Order: sequence, then C-alpha cells, then structure tokens
Amino acid sequence: MTNSQSTGKAAQSADVVVLGAGPAGLLAANLLHRGGIDCVVLERADRSHVQTRARAGFLVANTVRILDRHGLAGGLHRHGRQHGTCEFRTAEGRFRLDYGGLGRGERHTVYPQQDLVTDLLTHYLEAGGRIHFGTEALAVHDADTSRPSVAVREADGRPGRWRARYVAGCDGRHGAARRSLPPGALRHRRDHGISWLGLLAQAPPSLDAVGYAVHDRGFAGHMARTSEVTRYYLQCERGTAAAARSDEHIWDELETRMYAAEHGPLNRGRILHRGVVDFESDVIEPLRHGSLLLAGDAASLISPSAAKGANLAVLEAELLAQALIADLAHGDAAALERYSREALAHIWRAQEFSHWMIRLLHREPSAPEGESFFHESLRLSRLESLRTSRTHQDWFAENYTGV
Ligand code: APR
Repeated sequence: MTNSQSTGKAAQSADVVVLGAGPAGLLAANLLHRGGIDCVVLERADRSHVQTRARAGFLVANTVRILDRHGLAGGLHRHGRQHGTCEFRTAEGRFRLDYGGLGRGERHTVYPQQDLVTDLLTHYLEAGGRIHFGTEALAVHDADTSRPSVAVREADGRPGRWRARYVAGCDGRHGAARRSLPPGALRHRRDHGISWLGLLAQAPPSLDAVGYAVHDRGFAGHMARTSEVTRYYLQCERGTAAAARSDEHIWDELETRMYAAEHGPLNRGRILHRGVVDFESDVIEPLRHGSLLLAGDAASLISPSAAKGANLAVLEAELLAQALIADLAHGDAAALERYSREALAHIWRAQEFSHWMIRLLHREPSAPEGESFFHESLRLSRLESLRTSRTHQDWFAENYTGV
C-alpha cells in the first residue's frame, strides 16, 4: 500500500469511503479492511497532526474489550494505566469513591488518544489499508441513492471526487458528513451553559485519583494522562479566551478550587496546551441517511464531564463496520437500520449520565431568579447521596465506566 496523496485525477472509488482518521474512522476502516471490504479513509490533516493531536485518554473497559477482540489493544496494554478511584472535594471536605470495586467492578484505562490513534493507523497501514492524508471532503452528494459520491479538495488543492456504495461519516462535529445531511435530519441539541478551560500540564499527577472539585468559584478537575503529564479543567465563563490567564494565575485558581490549603498543593509545571470547550450536546437521529452513515462526533456530541466521547466513537465504529460488512458481504439489508437504533440507545444512555454529571459538578447556570438555592440544595443532596449510599455508588460506577 502506498500512502499516496490523491493525484486529483478523475473520480476514484471504493465500496466504502470513510471520512476522518480519528478513533471512529480508523477503527471502522481497520475492521472493514479486515472484513474484505474495499474501503479508503480520506483525512484532511497530515499524518503527523493526526498522530500527535492530544484529545481524550480515558478508556472504559468495554472499549478495551472491543480493541482486544480485534487485536488492536497491544499499545494500551503495554503503556496504559488503570484508574479506579474518584476523589470529590467540596467545602465540607473530601470523599473518595473506589468505583473500580463498585458496580460491575470495572476500571478505566488511561491511554492518551494520540497513542491509540497511532496504533490504529499503524495496524491499518500494515494491513495494506488505503488512506489519503491532506484530502478534505467538501460534500457528500447523492446520499439518497446507491451511488453516492464525495467531492474533495486534494492535497495539491485540486478538486477531486470519490464514488462509493456507502460513505461512513466519521469526520467529527464540523465535518462534511454533517454538512451533507438532508434538511429533514433531526438534530436534538442542548447547550448546558457551562464551559471548561482544558489544560494539559507538563507536571506529574497531584492525586492518585480522578479529582472533581466543587467550589463556590466554580468546578476544577484533575485527570492523570501519564506519569509526567496531567489534564486539568477549570470551569470558566462562556466566551473566555484560552490564553486569558497566565500559567501562574491558572495554578493559583486550580489550587484555590481544589482546596489545596486543606489537602496539599498541586504539582505545578509548564502548561503545554489550553483550549476552551463549551458544553453543548447533540444527537443526530437517525444515524443513517440513505448511503451516508454517521459515527463518533459526527453522530453525537457529548460533554467531557464523563469522558464518554472517544469510548462512544469506538463502540459505534465497531457496530457500523459490522453492519456494513453484513450488508455488503452478506446481503443483510436491515443491518444498517439496526446499527442506527442500537448506536442511538448507547448514545442516549451516555448523554443522560453525562448530563447528570454536569449537574452534580456545577451550580445550575440558568436557574431562574429565586431558584438558585433550591437547585444548589438538590445538587448538594446528590453529592451527599453519592457519598453515603452504596446503591447510588454502584449506579455511578456502572454508568461512569459504561458505554
Ligand atoms: N474531510 C476529511 N477529514 C476531516 C474533515 C473533512 N471535511 N473534517 C474533519 N476531518 C477529520 C479530522 O481531521 C479528524 O482527524 O476527521 C477526524 C475526526 O476525528 P475526531 O474529531 O477525533 O472524531 P471521532 O473519531 O468521532 O472521535 C471523537 O474522540 O477526540 C475524541 O473525545 C473526543 O468525542 C471525541 C471523540
């Protein structure tokens, strides 16, 4: 296989054109290729960007099982680290939840997403899979027919076109797949009114747990990425510029909100990356529009509050690849409809828990005048129930580690 840049020649073709080389696109492409399906991945970024982009990194047990099933989990078994404890910090003190011993007894595997994407890409290329980097999908045409095509801008800037039997839209929230949905496509959405300043720090983790701090000044979060890099989150006002605060100011604010005076200082270091994420969720329904299928962020957006995005992307990619193989190789015409129904059930479960987490960790941002105290009392009651009720803790553990 050559990693050829598209030459901009006349229409090229594949049975399945996969848009996007993120977790969803690359897992789907690996499974399709292995299933004997003629597929190609079109990715607008270059290979280096795809392999180094720091995103999520908190994999649930089911994600590990899926990757294990297909022999794609070698890297995460070698370098991933198990996590099974949350520490909630409030003005009343702190409590730890060893969720790895609750619910189904499952833990997370911490494994940086860029490493997972690199593993998936390496497996795909070594198996002879086709991918075109630097190729931006502009639109999906004729998705309502059995001969859709994808208009692209080739790496050399020239226009091109790919013909397919199916197009797997795995190109995220701003990709061509979403832009090409028919006018009637349902998009259920919610703006939670919360924003986080996400930070990646060159500093060892400060806790041996996932830290969730609930403070009058706002939420702060702590999630280890590696032994030398830690992800922090600071709730911020909508519209905050990522570069607005100095590193020192950020560390001071993190320590204030994580009650460092009572529980000890944070390990400080250089902030490598900053980015503001607004908590918007949405779900496209259904996930099949003729010959265009959606998976990952192209299918639904979920807030980072419960770290579900990459896990949903992996689950949907396996379901989609299995459905496409059933349709193309075994003539199962109902497989793709089943895919949409089954994936949506998982999406809504993850959305519901993510919504619950948002309201556990943040004051109600849009409480009508005079109702703030009522909402805040509900929130504190949720936290207290989580601290004291084994049944609630089992429910939390099952959903926190589930997808
Ligand atoms: N043409 C080609 N490629 C595109 C286009 C386009 N028009 N638009 C976006 N892409 C590529 C991006 O460069 C990226 O590599 O599609 C890929 C989408 O990858 P992700 O955004 O990671 O989406 P997905 O695979 O669905 O994974 C989503 O993983 O990043 C984590 O938690 C995050 O929820 C998110 C999950």
